[in-house]
Amino acid sequence: MAIPAYTTLFEAAFGAESVNATNLAKALAAFERTLVPRDSSFDRYMAGDDDAMTTSQIRGLHGFISQGCSGCHSGPMLSDYKLHNLKVPARIGETGYGESVFPEAEGGAFRTPSLRMVTRTAPYMHNGVFETLSETVDFYHNIDHHIKVDPLVEGDVEVAHGQGDDILVFFEALSDGTFDRTIPERVPSGLPPAGGR
Ligand code: HEC
Repeated sequence: MAIPAYTTLFEAAFGAESVNATNLAKALAAFERTLVPRDSSFDRYMAGDDDAMTTSQIRGLHGFISQGCSGCHSGPMLSDYKLHNLKVPARIGETGYGESVFPEAEGGAFRTPSLRMVTRTAPYMHNGVFETLSETVDFYHNIDHHIKVDPLVEGDVEVAHGQGDDILVFFEALSDGTFDRTIPERVPSGLPPAGGR
């Protein structure tokens, strides 16, 4: 390989002759797993600390469940890891707002994303069509119930007016954990390390 330091590091982690796409994906996935904070307010609340979330965050959690969000955003990662077609609108300038880039016939389904750290991961949806979380929650408010959104989800998914605010506050409880944000001084490629947020 062109950069010997990577060969040495790959061999230390995966054994001889191990610089390949599969191991690269595994290495990136192992790194990404370290970015999942374990001690968010939500985690502490779920572990039994009733004071870990504020009253409006708890209301938001209940709204999140009662309005059907947890039908897909379930479990510790707030994802069922399944594909769903929500008919997310296209970005302006792609095919025209409101028209999906991926028509249903071609399979416009995307895997439910985790909502951990969600307040820090704008823009939202596969195409980044929504700049803010409030726009994203509004999308669910305005979702067209005449379209059968997803056969896996029973009942309506609907954010009642006014309840979206609590859900937004609840998202903060998913996003305040700590994890190692150290940026290495240098990397084997010699390129300047990115990051800093
Ligand atoms: C039918 C399953 C399903 C239900 C029910 C559901 N979601 Fe989602 N959610 C998804 C999928 C799939 C995506 C990704 C869509 C995409 O990328 O186009 C998503 C994306 C999101 C995102 C953006 C995450 C990101 O990082 O881009 C937020 C925020 C969100 N959902 C909140 C909610 C809320 C709030 C509710 C309840 C009102 C809800 N979801 C109900 C499946 C669901």
